[in-house]
Amino acid sequence: MVKSILGLTLNGRAREDAVADNMLLIDYIREVCGLTGTKMGCDGGECGACTVLVDDRPRLSCISLAASCDSRRVDTVEGCGQGSRLSRLQKGFHEKLGSQCGYCTPGMIMAAEGLLRRTARPSVADIQQALSGNICRCTGYVKIIEAVSAAAEDAPTEEPPTEQAPSVELAE
Ligand code: FES
Ligand code: FES
Repeated sequence: MVKSILGLTLNGRAREDAVADNMLLIDYIREVCGLTGTKMGCDGGECGACTVLVDDRPRLSCISLAASCDSRRVDTVEGCGQGSRLSRLQKGFHEKLGSQCGYCTPGMIMAAEGLLRRTARPSVADIQQALSGNICRCTGYVKIIEAVSAAAEDAPTEEPPTEQAPSVELAE
């Protein structure tokens, strides 16, 4: 098995690991880095449960190679919030009852995080578009949309410029 040194910034911290060239990003995150918040759902690019951010753009980690993230920034749900302080999205999901079983929630939060990093005040249509690749078996989506809307309204006073809602990147 061919291994190469993978250097990236994960949740704000630089790290290097020897990683098999064919290792999937989700396996790197969960097994090498021990961050199990990112969930495997369909294992085939269909459900969005495994969504993380790569350079601020949502990426399906179940169909992405870890090696494709060399020299890039990767953010997972563990990077949201600070200690026991919830991020505005985590708070929104909690207060608006956007989670039931919670299995889809990390992917939903990361897809929404990608949206809010680019679009300060997203419309409901923007939120629906950003979460269109994320499947939830429990909630019916209404509460999830409300949770993201509440998080957007909870924005800090200074916001980045509004851009078009990001779409999920597939594998490289
Ligand atoms: S696990 Fe379903 S899209 Fe990745
Ligand atoms: S809360 Fe159960 S799958 Fe979404």
